[in-house]
Amino acid sequence: MKNYGADEMNEYKSDLIRTLMNTRDLDDAGLLQLLAGEGPDAELFTAADQVRKSWYGDAVYLRGLIEFTNYCRNDCYYCGIRRSNRKIERYRLDRETILACCREGYQLGYRTFVLQGGEDPHYTDDVLCDIVSAIHKEFPDCAVTLSVGERSRESYQRLFDAGARRYLLRHEAASEELYGKLHPAGMSCAGRKRCLRDLKEIGFQVGAGLMVGAPGQTPQHLIEDIRFLQELKPDMIGIGPYLRHADTPFRDCPDGSMEVTLRLLAILRLLFPYALIPSTTALGTIDPQGRELGLRAGANVVMPNLSPRENRAQYSLYDNKICTGEESAQCRSCLEMRVLSAGYRLVTDVGDVKEHTCF
Ligand code: 5AD
Ligand code: FES
Repeated sequence: MKNYGADEMNEYKSDLIRTLMNTRDLDDAGLLQLLAGEGPDAELFTAADQVRKSWYGDAVYLRGLIEFTNYCRNDCYYCGIRRSNRKIERYRLDRETILACCREGYQLGYRTFVLQGGEDPHYTDDVLCDIVSAIHKEFPDCAVTLSVGERSRESYQRLFDAGARRYLLRHEAASEELYGKLHPAGMSCAGRKRCLRDLKEIGFQVGAGLMVGAPGQTPQHLIEDIRFLQELKPDMIGIGPYLRHADTPFRDCPDGSMEVTLRLLAILRLLFPYALIPSTTALGTIDPQGRELGLRAGANVVMPNLSPRENRAQYSLYDNKICTGEESAQCRSCLEMRVLSAGYRLVTDVGDVKEHTCF
């Protein structure tokens, strides 16, 4: 690329943002330029905010996160609850405890419950379906979202039939090569993509996503992620910065960048105007204002913690995770305040994704 002066650079960047906004696409060079963020990002964030407002107004959707098990059969190099981490105390919640979290959440205005956990063989299809259908039966006006990793297509189908309607499964890396560096042999990029496609075909609203600044990740990898997302057309997209955990093989790898995370978030909003995009806990962990900044860069979902307080610290995906000392009610009001201070409004309805079959 030729050398631009400051004015020319700003003009070039404005053109890129306009193209992205109007065509909902951009070539690799343009995306790389926006991700690199030379010059102020205000224009990118404003464009993302404008698009999100035209689709969703000032609504921010609330999801109650129940981290119900930190047992995991996998050994992802970045994750604090990986199987080989012998230092954490493991826990799992039974059906009654999970239902009690939902009851508390319902009182607090939650209409979506996100059950997230490690890949814990204790939760067989029978056990998990029983939990999902119990929630579905007691809270027929609520949505159940699952985030429990890779399972067989039959298993996903059974969970759908039990009443789950949304599924979060970050693809982590669309590049086979990077995926292989982040995960031990036995986990595969192709397997992960297969799960996402199965989930979609079954009829789940599907969420994919990744960690920004994961060890070994280059801007080119992020382009591959974007291209994969364009193919998948997910309903939800979760991104946050990679954050180190002291008891993983990646303990010495530097944290991801908040700025790049925010830029990618804004780009995703422009590419996927309809999408539900959370302002994640990892963003709030890397910076005290991270979640507010995420909302202003295009995010429209927050996921306060509804897990029992005594277990929160044990769900340690990365170091210094926030919200581990709070009660559910505190977490709910804390986030409400943050949403308001960012200039948005917390809504408590089920909040399905907007129709986007035309994309
Ligand atoms: N830093 C940031 N995010 C992480 N996750 C797991 N470990 C880390 C970490 N060290 C993310 C993964 C996973 C989601 C539940 O949490 O992307 O899909
Ligand atoms: Fe949990 Fe603020 S969101 S305490």
